[in-house]
Amino acid sequence: MRILAIESTCDETSIALLSGRKLKKNLIYSQVNIHRKYKGVVPEAASRAHSDKIALLLSRSGFLKEEISAVSFSRGPGLNGSLIVSFMASSTVSEFLKVPLIGVNHLEGHLLSCEIRNRCIEDIFKFPIIALIVSGGHSELWLVKGYGKYSLLGATRDDAVGEAFDKTARLLGFQYPGGPLIEKAAAKVKDAGFSFPVPIVPKGFEFSFSGLKTAVSYKLAGEKIISADKYKIAAAFQKSAVEALLVKTLAAVSKYPVRQIAVGGGVSANGYLRKVFTEKMREKNVEVLFPEKKYCGDNAAMVAACAFRRLKAGKFRNCTKPEADLKIEDWN
Ligand code: KG4
Ligand code: ZN
Repeated sequence: MRILAIESTCDETSIALLSGRKLKKNLIYSQVNIHRKYKGVVPEAASRAHSDKIALLLSRSGFLKEEISAVSFSRGPGLNGSLIVSFMASSTVSEFLKVPLIGVNHLEGHLLSCEIRNRCIEDIFKFPIIALIVSGGHSELWLVKGYGKYSLLGATRDDAVGEAFDKTARLLGFQYPGGPLIEKAAAKVKDAGFSFPVPIVPKGFEFSFSGLKTAVSYKLAGEKIISADKYKIAAAFQKSAVEALLVKTLAAVSKYPVRQIAVGGGVSANGYLRKVFTEKMREKNVEVLFPEKKYCGDNAAMVAACAFRRLKAGKFRNCTKPEADLKIEDWN
């Protein structure tokens, strides 16, 4: 089984080639330098940059030398214009090669990236598990009963946690994307000496992060800020954001007895989050799985991992269009 996978939901163009369970290629072109000067992703610039790079990456992947069994792409959620680029490319290749076109959910990709170890797809999950997806556009908790068996427990009511990291970073004058810079700044501080309220939605499994970002802006208002203050604010923000994620994940673990939780998406690269989750979940006898750092951000290897599970289960239809607000749903 050989899968060609394409990812272009936001600001990374990526092509992967999977042979059996072995990842042969995972090429990523990041547009960060293009968007940095605008302090965020500009959708029009993103789709243009995907169009510029996708053919080059495809040819570099060497897929024409392989016998491809299926082409897959992230069907959504994502930016409309960006999604069209990978849909066009993947549907053209699949038509040309006369192989199925498998559209997968980008967020499912973030979950399944936890099973890519040493460039190989492994069977690591012991279902049922809880999944926490934390990216620039989404913060979601799922109950996962198997591959393709997903129930959404809760999502964010407003900002995603990655978005809150990026907006807070912007308030502090850091560059885009701010998440990694907040982590770096926070690491310089042992104790911030103050705390922001932990944003908890009463009952259920929903999140809310816009109030935390506002609390940071109030803290900054009218004050003369020096670097040391920025480090403290970054540390206090990060602590509060991670605590909010932890509280709801612990609630999910109490309600649904599981042995594992999997955390995926860009924010899962955060070392502080990894430490806190691992320690707290150990007390509950729950193992926490994270992707290898290089698979936390957007990449096509995770898209290939989704298509691999579908091909293995024989559960796929030819995809006919991308979907910008695609929701997670059962396919198995
Ligand atoms: O999953 P991802 O690469 O793209 C989306 O699907 O959105 O997530 C990007 C998000 C950005 O908000 C970025 O700031 C955040 O992940 N991020 C981090 C870290 N690395 C990336 N947030 C906190 N700490 C990090 N180390
Ligand atoms: Zn993503």
